[in-house]
Amino acid sequence: QPSDQEIRPVIEAHLHLEGPLLPILHDLQARFGFIPDAARGVIAEALNLSVAEVVGVISFYHDFRKAPAGQHVLKLCRAEACQSVGSEGLAQRVLANLGLEWHGTTADGKLTVEPVYCLGLCACAPALMLDGVVHGRVDDAGVVAILEEAGV
Ligand code: FES
Repeated sequence: QPSDQEIRPVIEAHLHLEGPLLPILHDLQARFGFIPDAARGVIAEALNLSVAEVVGVISFYHDFRKAPAGQHVLKLCRAEACQSVGSEGLAQRVLANLGLEWHGTTADGKLTVEPVYCLGLCACAPALMLDGVVHGRVDDAGVVAILEEAGV
């Protein structure tokens, strides 16, 4: 976890903006790879919000991480087109095989699995993205192959 001294300047750099909360959160995540717990109170104080309000915003946006991500990030699509061809079942099996919940990271720190809501690949559902590269029409064996190829 980054220290207070590291966190404060990132927050202060955006205080002049109108609606600084999202820019602050994006910048924190860009620098540290996640939103450090210690930032919540500092942000709340600086923006005159409650900590609960800050936490609510962090939780609302699926892209904000509460912990550092693994070496690889697998995003499984949970939006409608993918759901209609069984993405939920696929996702549950992938998570179960890895022993993870959504947003979880494997014990070796190699892989984080996150939900995503449409990758623009609806015609090739179900879709996923590994480290920024999208794959369509994936099935259980396909996910295993994609992970193996990435060395996970
Ligand atoms: Fe999954 Fe669009 S709904 S890619």
